[in-house]
Amino acid sequence: MRIEVRYFTKTGHTKKLAEGIAKQLEMKAFIKTLNPSNIKEVIVFSSGAFGNAYAPLKKELSAQGLKVSSQEFHCKGTLGFMHKNRPNDKDVNNAAVFAKTAAGKLGV
Ligand SMILES: Cc1cc2nc3c(=O)[nH]c(=O)nc-3n(C[C@H](O)[C@H](O)[C@H](O)COP(=O)(O)O)c2cc1C
Repeated sequence: MRIEVRYFTKTGHTKKLAEGIAKQLEMKAFIKTLNPSNIKEVIVFSSGAFGNAYAPLKKELSAQGLKVSSQEFHCKGTLGFMHKNRPNDKDVNNAAVFAKTAAGKLGV
C-alpha cells in the first residue's frame, strides 16, 4: 500500500509538519487533488493558534466520497506573540510518531 501526505499551508507551518511525516514514512509530500477512487483512508493533521478546523474539512472530504479516519494530529501554531516558534522540532517529531503509529494501524 502507498501512503501520501498532502497539505495546504499559508505560512509554511503545515509544510513543516508534512515534511516531518513524509520523512518518517519515507514518502514525498504532495498538494494535489485527492482522488477517492484510489485512496483507502484520509488522516488529517494541522497546526493552529486556537483549535482546529477538522469538522468542516472532514465534512468536505467525506462529501468527496473519501473515508476519513477518526485518528487526527494537531499542535499549536504561531500567531503573533502566541505560541512562539511553533510548530517546533518536538511538534514535528510528535507528528512523525503519530504518522508512524497511524500507518501501523493501517497495516502499512
Ligand atoms: C492571518 C492569520 C490568521 C490566523 N487565524 C487563526 C485563527 O483564526 N485560528 C487559529 O487557530 N489560528 C489562526 N492563525 C494561526 C495559524 O493557524 C497558525 O500559525 C498555523 O500554524 C499556520 O499554519 P500554516 O503556516 O501551515 O498555514 C492565523 C494566522 C494568520 C497568519
